[in-house]
Amino acid sequence: MTTKVKKAVFPVGGLGTRFLPATKAMPKEMMPVVDKPLIHYAVEEAVAAGIEEFIFVTGRGKSAIEDHFDHSYELRDELAARNKTVEIAELDAWLPPAGAVAYTRQQVPKGLGHAVWCARNLVGDAPFAVLLADDLVLTDKPCLAQMVEAHIETGGNLVAVMDVPREHTGRYGVLDPGETRGRLVEVRGLVEKPAPAEAPSTLSVIGRYILQPEVFGHLESQVPGAGGEIQLTDALARMIGGDPFHGFRYDGKRFDCGDKVGFIQANIAFALARDDLRGGVSAYLKSLDLGA
Ligand code: G1P
Repeated sequence: MTTKVKKAVFPVGGLGTRFLPATKAMPKEMMPVVDKPLIHYAVEEAVAAGIEEFIFVTGRGKSAIEDHFDHSYELRDELAARNKTVEIAELDAWLPPAGAVAYTRQQVPKGLGHAVWCARNLVGDAPFAVLLADDLVLTDKPCLAQMVEAHIETGGNLVAVMDVPREHTGRYGVLDPGETRGRLVEVRGLVEKPAPAEAPSTLSVIGRYILQPEVFGHLESQVPGAGGEIQLTDALARMIGGDPFHGFRYDGKRFDCGDKVGFIQANIAFALARDDLRGGVSAYLKSLDLGA
């Protein structure tokens, strides 16, 4: 029987230099898409997938994330004084229960693999999820919930995958795919950020993983890879051939919010998906004379 996935790791230590000056005094994970910070979407997605413990691997200058998931007395008092009961109820609705959130710091930015390894003592000895807040998926059924369901059947390691244009393989972990069964693709190999000519396919990992705790042992001894960083992909590649290992073609549209164009697209798409904003935003888009 597959063990239930109860814990999720959110690596949020990155500097966010691509969004300076917005990220000078604010974590990149607090950048809002419409009216919610990126990290808020990631936590909501984890909750929808049945996650009960939320582990943030933070770094310097990330305290706004801790404040965001904390009770805010000042804000509540202000809202109460103005009889804003709906807003208070909304704030209470998504606040994780006391003790459900844990923070640990990645002291030195040594890469995604190192960030995940920093969570090893908090995760312990059970399968866990990893969510990268930069990757936002617009879909009816949240991406991680789809994966948790698939994982009940597959067990082992499961990574969310999508096809990317070949010229973009250098931005992703790329699969050497084996047999396909519905949304599942057997993983025969994994390469981090291969040049287009060397990529084994165009099927690429996006920032949603369900992993076996054995990955921590591999991360412990992992030597730096692409970009001189300790790569999660490299440690995962060493697990192929052991437990089942699948890519999962999730249902939904993924936005790369670590990229300015992707971030702007996400804002438009998430606004258009909302009843209260669709009219105004689509009217504006239609009014644009973009030329031929
Ligand atoms: C990370 C992973 C990469 C994965 C990507 C998804 O890269 O290392 O394998 O495909 O996330 O967004 P990063 O975007 O942090 O460079």
